[in-house]
Amino acid sequence: MVIHHNKSLKRLNTFGVEVNALNFVEILHADQLADLFKNKEVVNQSLLFLGGGSNMLFTHDFNGLVIKMGIKGITTRIDGDNVYVQAGAGEVWNDLVNYCVNNNYAGIENLSLIPGSVGASPIQNIGAYGVELKDAFYELNAFDTETFTIKTFNKEECEFGYRESVFKSKLKGRYIVTSVTLKLSLKPSLNTSYGAIEAELKNRGIDNPTIKDISQVVSHIRVSKLPDPSTIGNAGSFFKNPIVSEEVFEAVKSKNGEVVNYPAGNGKIKLAAGWLIEQCGWKGKVIGNTGTWKNQALVLVNHGEATGREIYDFSEVIIQSVNEKFGVSLEREVNIF
Ligand code: EPU
Repeated sequence: MVIHHNKSLKRLNTFGVEVNALNFVEILHADQLADLFKNKEVVNQSLLFLGGGSNMLFTHDFNGLVIKMGIKGITTRIDGDNVYVQAGAGEVWNDLVNYCVNNNYAGIENLSLIPGSVGASPIQNIGAYGVELKDAFYELNAFDTETFTIKTFNKEECEFGYRESVFKSKLKGRYIVTSVTLKLSLKPSLNTSYGAIEAELKNRGIDNPTIKDISQVVSHIRVSKLPDPSTIGNAGSFFKNPIVSEEVFEAVKSKNGEVVNYPAGNGKIKLAAGWLIEQCGWKGKVIGNTGTWKNQALVLVNHGEATGREIYDFSEVIIQSVNEKFGVSLEREVNIF
């Protein structure tokens, strides 16, 4: 294990923001974590665990130790129609999706092309096109930074919610995911309920889609709507879709007529944050080095040399603007450092 000093994180965050980590180490095996944590000097500083850096915005240099999770490896176990696929936290999420799709293991094809690492996927319960990670999740292993042991969490213990898990709330900062196990199926039950998937399948003349078809269609939709982080810095949706009460929903509707919305259970309604932001006139706007994406107002972008602070300040302006127009408070989905 080599500790690097004053390491640039520009290539390690998909916003492409230029910041340095005072100290930096990459972990390739779960055992290395216990060794690292036994060294008091090393861990008596602020710690930041980094996966693919696809859901974070750095607003300043990190004056501590960044621990990049690079644990690789995929293993499978077949039991009847079920396939248990375990992947190291440092695997690229989309590589895992491709591996499963190519082997005909069904369950995560709707999550094709989501940027980021396997280890980060349960933290915010990634989701897209009618499927969330929790739907295919079996268990995960995580390193306990207090006892220096590995603990296994089952689905209930992860307390998954919309872009939420116990690792973002009660247990924030305590555990670091080392591997994730999914329970996939050799007998696919496809989820094509999302309007855009149905429309694109029809467009391609596909009546009986395979999981490969779904993966290709989802990838096509994502590429057409979302900016590619390798050319335009971004972290996907910057805000969550707000979940509001019936009263708030009615108030927004009375001001604006139609509002893009989805039922969220317990009488609550989820509003499309991209729609709210677009209605405030921000879609495709370029403000200095930052702005919102031309095809999806929920995505903030780095047009070149934006600082994290600039992007953060712009997100404040958007929150204020949506609040003034609709009385709805947007919450950031991206982690701010
Ligand atoms: N819309 C607009 N203007 C916009 C963007 C969206 O009017 O600029 C409206 C449209 O009516 C559209 C609706 O909002 O039909 C929903 O938009 P979209 O299908 O793009 O989905 P989203 O709710 O904006 C969520 C996830 C995405 C995920 C998509 C597809 C969140 C915060 N975001 O976006 O996830 O890919 O659904 O399932 O839940 C991410 O988390 O980084 C991410 C990209």
